[in-house]
Amino acid sequence: MNTLFLDAAFSKPTERPPVWMMRQAGRFMPQYWEIKNKYSFLEMCKTPEIAADVTMLPVDLLGIDAAILFSDILVTAEAMGGDLSFTQGIGPRFANPVRNLQDVDNLQVDVLDKLQYVADAIKVIQQRLNGSIPLIGFAGAPFTVMSYLVEGASSKDFKTTKLLMHNHPEIAHKLLAKIAKVTADYLNLQIAAGVNAIQIFDSWAMALSWNDYQEFSHRYIQEIIANLNRKDIPVISFCKGSSVFAPIMAEAKPDVISVDWNADLLNIKNSLPIGIAVQGNLDPHILYADKPVIKKTILQLFERMRGESGFIFNLGHGIMPDIPFDNVKYAIEVIKEFKY
Ligand code: CP3
Repeated sequence: MNTLFLDAAFSKPTERPPVWMMRQAGRFMPQYWEIKNKYSFLEMCKTPEIAADVTMLPVDLLGIDAAILFSDILVTAEAMGGDLSFTQGIGPRFANPVRNLQDVDNLQVDVLDKLQYVADAIKVIQQRLNGSIPLIGFAGAPFTVMSYLVEGASSKDFKTTKLLMHNHPEIAHKLLAKIAKVTADYLNLQIAAGVNAIQIFDSWAMALSWNDYQEFSHRYIQEIIANLNRKDIPVISFCKGSSVFAPIMAEAKPDVISVDWNADLLNIKNSLPIGIAVQGNLDPHILYADKPVIKKTILQLFERMRGESGFIFNLGHGIMPDIPFDNVKYAIEVIKEFKY
């Protein structure tokens, strides 16, 4: 197996930084659309052979150092009772948003049988990977998943979610505790099915104040990480907002913190306890730019991180769907040619 990714995740030296990209199995690839045109997004997630086909696209076409399960952070919320749909151009929607105590009480927590398709997909993917590179499993962090359940859709300001947190904290905590329980069970299901690493996505944490991040996000992530059957499986904690929240994130004891593009990555790494690796942190918009800009910016990051064990190259957030495929391919070539 190519162990670059796992070595870096455990802060061991590597000959070059390993590379994978958030949202690497997605819409920027023409081959994704060949599949997407035949099935709905949820059908793709729920059919293990198709989920495996999509997971393998960036492995076969880009040669990345780690694969990520093709699924979505909202499948747990659906299993709990959320009436989830995805509409092109609009994104995820819950037809029955969670707004009061009754709605929270109606959500189920013993839902692993409804998520068995994910375990099945992991087994098919591992057969296809055949030990070549590690497979990353994932889930959403409770705050980010709660925001979709409460808003009922994507949101810019999270107004309804924040009103629930601030006016009815006991209801918000009841909801977060239920999501955290399901998330820990779900990640342990993925570990039992054979993933080699876990990433927790708290995509919208940057909407929170320092105190609210601790109260409504961090403590549930900490609880989830503490409840994982980790064995030799590294845990990556990602949030938009990590430039600010990294010191709190470290208290949950992940192996890796995935950093947005606002911070200097080396400064963040040096501020963390020894043994916590960093992942990041190219601004994904660089991948729209001309190739010399892409190369220069990646090499600038690598020079800054030269000599550091515990560095995984990634973007500060996911690849946008309209980034040219050829630019992503070029970026990966630049990275794979680099030697420390
Ligand atoms: O990284 C990967 O390639 C693996 C697959 C993956 C998807 N979603 C596939 C997907 C992963 C890891 C996710 C996580 C996810 N889902 C997050 C956290 C990561 C992040 O980007 O912050 C969030 C916030 C979601 C919720 C979600 N799912 C949204 C907001 C959308 C639609 C809007 C958009 O622009 O992404 C989705 C749909 C989705 N998830 C698609 C894919 C490939 C697009 C589906 C389509 O083809 O229409």
